[in-house]
Amino acid sequence: MGLMVQEFKKVGVVGLGTMGAGIAEVFARAGFDIVGVEIDQAALDRGRGHVDKSLSRAVEKGKLTEEERSEIDARFTFSASREDLADVDFVVEAVPERMDIKRDVFGDLDRICAPGTILATNTSSLSVTEIAALTDRPEKVVGLHFFNPAPVMKLAEVITTVSTTDETVDVVTEVAKRIGKTPITVGDRGGFVANALLVPYINDGIRLYERQIATREEIDESVKKAAGLPMGPLTLADLVGLDVCLAVMDVLWEEFHDPRYSASPLLRRMVAAGRLGRKTGQGFYKGKDDAPESRRTGRLAQMVREEETLDIGEMLIAAQIDDAMRMIGDGYASAKDVDTALRFGCGYPKGPTELLEDRGAESVITTLVSMGEYSLTTIAVPAPLLMDRLPDVEDSEGHGGCACHGGA
Ligand code: 3HC
Repeated sequence: MGLMVQEFKKVGVVGLGTMGAGIAEVFARAGFDIVGVEIDQAALDRGRGHVDKSLSRAVEKGKLTEEERSEIDARFTFSASREDLADVDFVVEAVPERMDIKRDVFGDLDRICAPGTILATNTSSLSVTEIAALTDRPEKVVGLHFFNPAPVMKLAEVITTVSTTDETVDVVTEVAKRIGKTPITVGDRGGFVANALLVPYINDGIRLYERQIATREEIDESVKKAAGLPMGPLTLADLVGLDVCLAVMDVLWEEFHDPRYSASPLLRRMVAAGRLGRKTGQGFYKGKDDAPESRRTGRLAQMVREEETLDIGEMLIAAQIDDAMRMIGDGYASAKDVDTALRFGCGYPKGPTELLEDRGAESVITTLVSMGEYSLTTIAVPAPLLMDRLPDVEDSEGHGGCACHGGA
C-alpha cells in the first residue's frame, strides 16, 4: 500500500521540456514540492527558463502576486540526478517519445522510487502498457496525459492498462483533481481520446493546405468561424509541434491501418526539414513578420470553391464528428468523455456531440458525402452511430419505423 493522496507532498517530474516544465508548474502551484530532473545542467537551465517565463507571464497579467510566485519558486528543486527521486510520493515522466529513453528512465525509476510509488507517463504516442511492462510494478504505472499549454488546459487523460489496479486509478484521478484538472479515464489505445480526435483533424487541415484548397489563414479562420475554436489546425500544429502530430498520426496508423490515419506527406516533409513549429521558430507560420499567404489557384480548389455545400470549416468539423461517433460506437469512450476531452483539452466551446446536435446528422452526412465526391476524405461511409441519428423520415409522417432499416 502506498500513501493516501492527501499525504502526498513531493512530486518528481522527469523531463523539463515544454510539457514537463508546464506539468511541474501545475503541481507546484497546487502546493506540491517538486523535484524536476533533467539529463544535464544545460537542460535543467532550459527547463527552469520555461517555468520562469510562464510564472512571469502570470505575474505580469496580475494572475499571481510576487509573493505567491516566490512561494511557488521555493517549492522547486532542480537536479541532474534521478537518484534525487528516492523520496518522492508520485512521479510524472515527460521525456522524449522514444522507447529506448523510456526504458532507461523507467528502469531507473523502478529501482530508485519506493515500491508503492505510482509512476505516470505523459506519453502521447507510445503504449502505456509497454511502458508499464518495463517495470516490476506495472500495476502502479499509468498514463497521465496533459495538454499544451499544460498550465492552461484543464483536461488530464488518465490511461489505464490491463495491469493497472483500481486503487492506482483512484489515486491518480484524485491527484489530477487536486491539481485542478478535469480527468477522464480510458484504456490504452492509440491517440487516447483527445489526440485521436484532434490530430487527424489537424492532419485534414494540412491535407487541404498541401492540396491547395485554401491558404493557411483561410483554413485556420474557417474553423474559428464554423465552431468557435480558439485556434485553427495549422496554428495548433505549430503550437503542439509537428513532430508530435506526426508521431500521433503514425501510432494511429500502426494501431488501426485505416487510410484516415495516413499522415500528410507535407507534414512528414516539414518534420524531416526540422520545421517543427513554435519550438524551432518555424512551422506553417514563420513568426511575427510572416505576411498572409496569397490565395491558391489549384484546379481542385476552384471546383471546391464553386461547390456551395463545401465550407472548409464545416468539412473539418464533420470529419471530426464522424471520428467521435466511431469512437463512441466502439465503446472506447462515452459521449460525455469525448465532449469533455475537446472542451477541456483543446478549448472547444462545444464538444463533437454538441456540434453534431447543432448541425443535425443530415447536414454532417451531406458534408461528408460531398467531401467524398471531391476525394477530400477517405471516410467512405459515415459512422453507423451518425447514420443512426438521421431523422426518421417515416416518423415525421406518423407511420413509425425507418425506411433505411427496412421499416414499412
Ligand atoms: N503557458 C502558460 N500560460 C499560458 C500559455 C503558456 N504557454 N499560453 C497562454 N497562457 C495563458 C495566458 O496567460 C492566459 O491566462 P489568463 O486568462 O489567466 O490571463 C490564457 O492562457 C489565455 O492566453 P492568451 O489570452 O494569451 O491567448 P488565447 O486567449 O489566444 O489562448 C490558448 C491561448 C489557451 C492556447 C488558446 O488558444 C487555446 O485554448 N488553444 C487550443 C490549445 C489546444 O488545443 N491544446 C491542446 C493541444 S493537443 C496536446 O497538447 C496533446 C499532445 O499530446 C499533442
